[in-house]
Amino acid sequence: MIKENLKLNTGAEMPLVGLGTWKSAPSEVGRAVEYALTEAGYQHIDCAAVYKNESEIGESLTKVFNRGIQRENIFITSKLWDDQHARASVPKACKKSLQDLQLDYLDLYLMHWSVAEPFPSAISVRETWEAMEDLVKEGLAKAIGVANFTGPSLIDLLTYAKIKPAVNQIELHPYNQQTRLVEFCQKQGIVVTAYSPLGSPGEVGSRGSGEPILFDDPIIKEIAFRYQKTPAQILLRWAIERRTVVIPKSTHPERIKSNAELFDFSLTAEDLEKIASLERRHRFVDPWDWNGHLPYFD
Ligand SMILES: NC(=O)c1ccc[n+]([C@@H]2O[C@H](COP(=O)([O-])OP(=O)(O)OC[C@H]3O[C@@H](n4cnc5c(N)ncnc54)[C@H](OP(=O)(O)O)[C@@H]3O)[C@@H](O)[C@H]2O)c1
Repeated sequence: MIKENLKLNTGAEMPLVGLGTWKSAPSEVGRAVEYALTEAGYQHIDCAAVYKNESEIGESLTKVFNRGIQRENIFITSKLWDDQHARASVPKACKKSLQDLQLDYLDLYLMHWSVAEPFPSAISVRETWEAMEDLVKEGLAKAIGVANFTGPSLIDLLTYAKIKPAVNQIELHPYNQQTRLVEFCQKQGIVVTAYSPLGSPGEVGSRGSGEPILFDDPIIKEIAFRYQKTPAQILLRWAIERRTVVIPKSTHPERIKSNAELFDFSLTAEDLEKIASLERRHRFVDPWDWNGHLPYFD
């Protein structure tokens, strides 16, 4: 059962655990969302237009709301894709996600990356952010935020943002801990969401096999054995102990359920130290791998 929330700088509460939906096949995602919300205690779903499954998620949301779950008790995030950064495109893209998700408002709308595509583009992050600020004024999004923002891009955004980002959603797991960026965001009152918190084991994709597998890490396995928990639960518990939101993706009911059972144990300082020692700055998600022209994280 999911018991904890973090407070956003808007005053709204964001559940610490949400369901990820990237690579959830349209045929499977609806059932996963329904199960998470009605059987596994989730109150938070992480979506994005680019995942191309928002309309299936929307059908499930309507179903569960018709069955008595209150819209205001569910936290729904969507994201603006890189080819919709132009001022005029932003409200259209947001409305399309709302229409697909069958919602009147989003709890959180994120700029998915800090670059407009196709590259080169004349659209600045500032133009896009200002258009996102208007979404809040229009009531289409309760909060806005960013994803994949590095320190410098966030520092620049903060120089002109009239609405401070509520969230920065970034890749975080023991092999890519980004401790300084997490600390910086948290000091600025920006909630950090950890994406690919399990090390995205389904994502061998563009780089092929040979990627490190967090579930096989001897330290994670040893801790899991000692606590009689799954490696996934250890990784997720580590993330929430850093006060980062986690959004593990699964379409398997038993995994969806166990990925949220994180509140009946805690890791010792010694375990946290062991996990800290696993840092290797390894990213599973890097635009260079799919577009080959943006050295985004270099
Ligand atoms: N903002 C961004 O740019 C960005 C980038 C990446 C991800 N995200 C968000 O973050 C979410 C999570 O990241 P992710 O999907 O990359 O990876 P992840 O959540 O780290 O891992 C998902 C993979 O782990 C498997 N899995 C889940 N629970 C498991 C368990 N208990 N035991 C064994 N395997 C398990 C899933 O398989 P099954 O489904 O088969 O169970 C799936 O292959 C995404 O879905 C998306 O919502 C955002």
